[in-house]
Amino acid sequence: MEENQKNNDTDVTSTSLADIPKTFFKGIAKSRISLLGAMAVTVIFPFLVGAVLYDLAFGIPNTYFAGLVYMVLGPGFIGGLVLIIVGLFFSKGKEEVRLFTLAYFRDKLADDSGFDRLRKMIFIGVFLTCINIFVIGVLAYSGYHYMESNAFCGEFCHVPMTPEYTAYQNSAHSRVACVDCHIGSGAKWVAKSKISGARQLYAVVADTFARPIATPVHGLRPASGTCMQCHRPEMFHGDRLRIKDKFLEDEDNTHVQTVLLMKIGSAGDQAAESHGIHWHVDPGNEITYVAADWERSIIPEVMQRTADSGVLVYRDSDAEEQIANASHLQERVMDCIDCHNRPSHVYLDVDEALDKKIIARQIPQELPYVKRQAKAVVTEEYPSQDAARTAIASELRTFYRNNYPEIYREKQYLVDQAIAGTQAAFVENVFPEMQIQWSTYENWLSHDGCFRCHNYQHEAETGELISMDCDTCHTVLAEEEHKPAILKQLLGVN
Ligand code: HEC
Ligand code: HEC
Ligand code: HEC
Ligand code: HEC
Ligand code: HEC
Repeated sequence: MEENQKNNDTDVTSTSLADIPKTFFKGIAKSRISLLGAMAVTVIFPFLVGAVLYDLAFGIPNTYFAGLVYMVLGPGFIGGLVLIIVGLFFSKGKEEVRLFTLAYFRDKLADDSGFDRLRKMIFIGVFLTCINIFVIGVLAYSGYHYMESNAFCGEFCHVPMTPEYTAYQNSAHSRVACVDCHIGSGAKWVAKSKISGARQLYAVVADTFARPIATPVHGLRPASGTCMQCHRPEMFHGDRLRIKDKFLEDEDNTHVQTVLLMKIGSAGDQAAESHGIHWHVDPGNEITYVAADWERSIIPEVMQRTADSGVLVYRDSDAEEQIANASHLQERVMDCIDCHNRPSHVYLDVDEALDKKIIARQIPQELPYVKRQAKAVVTEEYPSQDAARTAIASELRTFYRNNYPEIYREKQYLVDQAIAGTQAAFVENVFPEMQIQWSTYENWLSHDGCFRCHNYQHEAETGELISMDCDTCHTVLAEEEHKPAILKQLLGVN
């Protein structure tokens, strides 16, 4: 073997540059592991480079094909390179590794022909390394972008992500990337997300994911690294007029309105102290709370730390019992998502969903009892969205054919419209395949959310209560009124 090697060396030094790869490949050929790696690299290389360049130039439209490129071929290529090196070091090719020792360098540098060979080896090594670094660099760049894309987050795991992706597309944040809220910037959170991503991928493959997907997301990054990269509550100011359009279940589907003046307030800026609803997120205040269940719906204790008045602890009158019976005890610093837990996955409740379709004229208000009938059919339970679509169509048709034959005959397009609008309201909010029914996901931006703390049950030792006065958070200017006078006064029209 030694003998052989020597011969080889002399051969090479006496011949051309083109023979250098031979020694290199012979070294590889001596180790089965290296050989396997080399085969993988050779087979994958042309496909991978082609696909990545195509993706950079035009974008791969199919998210599963992109998944194959970045999650199978890419790691395969890098794995192949690793095998080559591992093989050289740990297998029969050990003698080749001698090539890289100091003694060897000294030896070779001593005489001219040896120096020549070394130079060629270094040249080849550097050349191959450059190619690999380039390929891996491009791969990492476009692979990173792929894995941060909405298509990857929302479409790759098709069944489990459909509800979140659908609800997201109907929200104010539909142009904000999933990763801006779920990961934010910084290597630490990207790494964290990839680790939990790998776990989730396994759950999808093994079909062990929860239906519905559990909420809240306990490892979600604090809002300072996500929401507050775009929003600045210290710049908020004033109150916001909030008009809620609703339709009653009478024959006329009477249009009523609730008008609220929401005390948006501010987290405090140079001009004003923090006040109103966004007082909670003043950087000078810290509200910490203890929750007794996974969903954070039971809150036995709230700690309020403010710049001027120190710490105040409010305890629920049932705190001891709640803590003793806790199913998942946890402490948490309050931030945006303790109220805005549905900023982008907005599942509407049944009334809101139908009312929105009526105001958008997708369900015609002039069709008698349409709100009542639509609500009746969508609140039944169905095994799938398709089953619901069929039932909505047949039940609404039957109702109008039997009860309003004239309308059914002369204005059938109204019934068709109502069917389409009602089906849309259903499939945007209810996902039987993932066991998501109406209001399965709670929205904390509501009395349910606020009254977890603001319920006159949380008392500090000093006797102070967390306030529940009806005008702490808003002024109710009208409640379910038909043509409310206040709107005429404010807007001049009704
Ligand atoms: C505007 C910020 C924002 C964007 C954009 C966003 N999410 Fe979310 N997401 C959240 C918040 C907040 C929660 C719930 C946090 C909680 O209650 O703990 C959440 C929860 C989830 C959940 C858990 C189930 C649930 O509904 O509570 C999944 C799954 C999810 N998001 C996937 C996605 C996907 C996929 C995208 C992109 C298509 C996306 N998110 C975009 C903020 C966002
Ligand atoms: C990448 C920037 C970005 C991030 C991150 C972001 N938002 Fe937004 N948000 C926006 C923009 C832009 C709008 C306005 C959208 C519009 O009205 O067209 C908006 C609107 C809103 C609104 C009012 C819209 C409504 O539904 O009434 C709320 C509330 C809100 N964001 C809360 C949040 C919360 C909570 C988070 C963190 C979980 C967050 N945002 C993260 C950019 C962002
Ligand atoms: C205590 C609960 C709570 C917290 C905490 C909270 N918000 Fe809000 N936020 C609300 C309520 C309630 C509204 C008004 C909703 C409405 O008009 O119906 C609102 C409104 C908003 C709006 C719309 C403002 C406007 O003028 O229309 C934005 C944007 C927003 N919040 C962002 C944030 C961000 C970002 C954070 C975290 C830094 C945050 N909020 C923390 C409860 C909260
Ligand atoms: C985790 C507990 C908790 C939750 C949930 C919560 N709050 Fe509060 N909130 C407090 C505490 C503590 C105070 C300070 C005591 C007080 O002023 O009553 C406070 C004070 C307020 C104030 C008065 C701020 C000021 O000007 O002094 C408003 C307005 C308010 N909250 C609105 C809301 C709204 C709206 C929601 C729901 C969307 C909500 N809060 C949810 C704990 C909470
Ligand atoms: C801690 C804050 C807070 C307190 C206290 C509070 N509310 Fe509200 N209220 C809210 C929030 C948040 C909403 C939801 C606004 C939205 O839909 O965006 C709301 C909505 C409403 C609505 C409209 C509901 C709908 O969807 O039609 C009415 C009516 C209302 N509140 C009445 C009251 C009355 C009466 C009281 C006193 C018992 C009260 N509120 C106390 C925070 C509060």
